[in-house]
Amino acid sequence: MITIKKVGAAAVPEIIALANISWKPTYKDILSEPQMDYMMRLLYSADTLHQQITQQQHQFILAIDNEHNIGFASYFVIDPNNLTAYKLQKLYINPDQQGKGIGKKLIDFIIEDIKPKGAVSLELNVNRFNNANQFYKKIGFGIIREEDIDIGNNYFMNDYVMRKIL
Ligand SMILES: CC(C)(COP(=O)(O)OP(=O)(O)OC[C@H]1O[C@@H](n2cnc3c(N)ncnc32)[C@H](O)[C@@H]1OP(=O)(O)O)[C@@H](O)C(=O)NCCC(=O)NCCS
Repeated sequence: MITIKKVGAAAVPEIIALANISWKPTYKDILSEPQMDYMMRLLYSADTLHQQITQQQHQFILAIDNEHNIGFASYFVIDPNNLTAYKLQKLYINPDQQGKGIGKKLIDFIIEDIKPKGAVSLELNVNRFNNANQFYKKIGFGIIREEDIDIGNNYFMNDYVMRKIL
């Protein structure tokens, strides 16, 4: 049975282990190897993840199947003074577990968590060349704009910003 649970900073090694399985396969046909290495260091160092959890109030959740971690997600309120708009920051399912409804389960869990807190929208950034945007469309997100984000070292993230009204 698949369970979903909230985790804190103690789970940072588990999150890194999951990212090592699912992150690079996602971008291997989209980004160059050096950009992937740069982004992995930037986004998935233990320091960055600790900071997100302990200082920026990012909530991480794990999907677990029979004690095996099979996916993770993170989300946060965009402006702590306005509890209506949340951002989905990360959503990665292990490659051998994709297409089994787990991504949708994680999104449903997030929505059930944030709606009672006052959320009326959930936003995310997705790479314009990542077909995950089709998944998001299927579950009710729409594109609201394009965003090209300078992440340093002459690298950019070429994203759609998508939003679902809850
Ligand atoms: C994108 C991702 C999170 C979706 O999770 P998943 O568990 O594979 O998807 P689900 O099985 O929950 O799919 C839910 C629905 O979306 C559809 N769907 C999933 N991925 C799709 C895709 N790439 N294109 C079109 N439809 C898709 C499914 O067919 C399903 O439709 P159904 O309800 O009619 O059966 C997952 O595939 C993943 O981790 N991909 C790699 C990482 C990634 O790109 N993350 C997003 C970064 S922004």
